Amino acid sequence: MDAGNLVTTRSGTVQDIGLRPRTEAVTPEALYVAETRGSAVTAEGLVKVYGKGKSEVRALDGVDLTVPEGSVLGLLGPNGAGKTTTVRILATLLKPDAGTASVAGFDIARQAHQLRSVIGLSGQYAAVDENLTGRENLSMFGRLYQLSKGDARKRADELLEQFDLVDAANRPAKTYSGGMRRRLDLASALVGQPRVLFLDEPTTGLDPRSRIAMWNVIRESVRGGMTVLLTTQYLEEADELADSIAVIDTGKVIARGTADELKAQIGGERIEVVVRQPGDIARAHALLMRNGEDECSVEEHARRLTTPAHGGAEKLVRIVRDFDEAGIVIDDIGLRRPTLDDVFLALTGHHAEDIELTGDDDAPAAAD
Ligand SMILES: Nc1ncnc2c1ncn2[C@@H]1O[C@H](COP(=O)(O)OP(=O)(O)O)[C@@H](O)[C@H]1O
Ligand SMILES: [Mg+2]
Repeated sequence: MDAGNLVTTRSGTVQDIGLRPRTEAVTPEALYVAETRGSAVTAEGLVKVYGKGKSEVRALDGVDLTVPEGSVLGLLGPNGAGKTTTVRILATLLKPDAGTASVAGFDIARQAHQLRSVIGLSGQYAAVDENLTGRENLSMFGRLYQLSKGDARKRADELLEQFDLVDAANRPAKTYSGGMRRRLDLASALVGQPRVLFLDEPTTGLDPRSRIAMWNVIRESVRGGMTVLLTTQYLEEADELADSIAVIDTGKVIARGTADELKAQIGGERIEVVVRQPGDIARAHALLMRNGEDECSVEEHARRLTTPAHGGAEKLVRIVRDFDEAGIVIDDIGLRRPTLDDVFLALTGHHAEDIELTGDDDAPAAAD
């Protein structure tokens, strides 16, 4: 990594923020390559190993990705899956041990300089300076992009408006709420009007309301046809924002498709039935299986049975009728959308949370 774009923040950490002045020419050849290929991001066989010997971690184990120009790819995976490592490699902040990748037609190894001039990066290790105000932060980024003072200021005001930060514009970023912080972070990534935007877990840690607000802001920002690679731990988030999804687990892409395709892979929506009497569970199970289902999981302690909802509401009505006829009392019944955990369980045989989130081994070996 060269030193040209390191920023020292007040907290003393040095961050490579991946910015380059936009004055550098994007060669017609490079544009041609990007456009004829039709994909703004391609990665093949990315491998990254951290540490050595016993402490060696194979963070990426051959990651392949393609993001078509103008689309949003959701890179979906649990904590520790390799999402940030992938983003950092694509943003040229980190060198892979093997594999190749290009972003907007620029090779990550040979054309890092040009590559950085056409990307924006926002996420977990954001470059916002806590002690500067929102406006100062955005103006600073404008200056880094070699805008004149006046233009930097103008761009800052535009973004403050767009991200609903006008009232907070003159307060230090450290006084911002989590949601405002994320909006400022995203705004900084957009100062240079990037062609490709990387969003690393843009809503992790936000409360549901701020998360939805953030989704709206992201949706609006990408409406103009920007290419976006977004990482997330939430299927719902990928579902809301992404045109296509790549599921990553322990450094490998284990599934790809649209949100609908992924859900269909695991049987789409689920129906959950809670029966009143523990003694009815076996009969309820038999009834559900009789309806032609290949799969029905039981959580004894919760008296809950879960089955794919092929047919949706129709099937739900049929279950209510069947159970009623059989004299099985239902405490609760509902349709729910598959969660990331369902997808994970189906694809990998383990729960998403098993990796690193709990870190302990005394969780029940199998919940189903
Ligand atoms: N600088 C580092 N040194 C050693 N291990 C690392 C480092 N960064 C990440 N890792 C490890 O690499 C794996 C992937 O990490 P990361 O890419 O941050 O995953 P994610 O962003 O999906 O949570 C994890 O096991 C993590 O602990
Ligand atoms: Mg991460």
